[in-house]
Amino acid sequence: RKVFVLNGPNLGRLGTRQTDVYGAVTYSDLAAHLVETGEGMGLDVEVRQTEHEGEMITWLHEAADAQAAVVLNAGAWTHYSYAIADAAALVPFYVEVHISNVHAREEFRRHSVLSANASGIIVGCGVGGYDLALAHVVASA
Ligand code: DQA
Repeated sequence: RKVFVLNGPNLGRLGTRQTDVYGAVTYSDLAAHLVETGEGMGLDVEVRQTEHEGEMITWLHEAADAQAAVVLNAGAWTHYSYAIADAAALVPFYVEVHISNVHAREEFRRHSVLSANASGIIVGCGVGGYDLALAHVVASA
């Protein structure tokens, strides 16, 4: 089963960006780990990251056309992008992931325009949240 793990802006900086909030695991290590973990779960995992909203929308359309499950960390777009929310709504199954506990931070991070259509939401579990999301795909999608 195909799974897209799609990451929005600034997430390519994992491992160097605000390590107190997001941890020390680098984006490339995370990506390699998820492909390998996915294989063990029988999933064909593809991990991508972009700084460009239109590119993310195109990827969500691709996932919708392929009827692929999506693990989505849209970064700051989570909080305000109706365009990403509309594109995500086309995907048959998506799990919203946030590495940090968005409820323990600035007020603007507490609201997500993506949550209403999500099949699950994983918040504050560090990068391990992505593994939990893959487990949820296996269990439910
Ligand atoms: C994030 C939380 C967002 O508020 C932030 O803009 C990010 C990362 C997280 O994974 O905790 O870029 O989605």
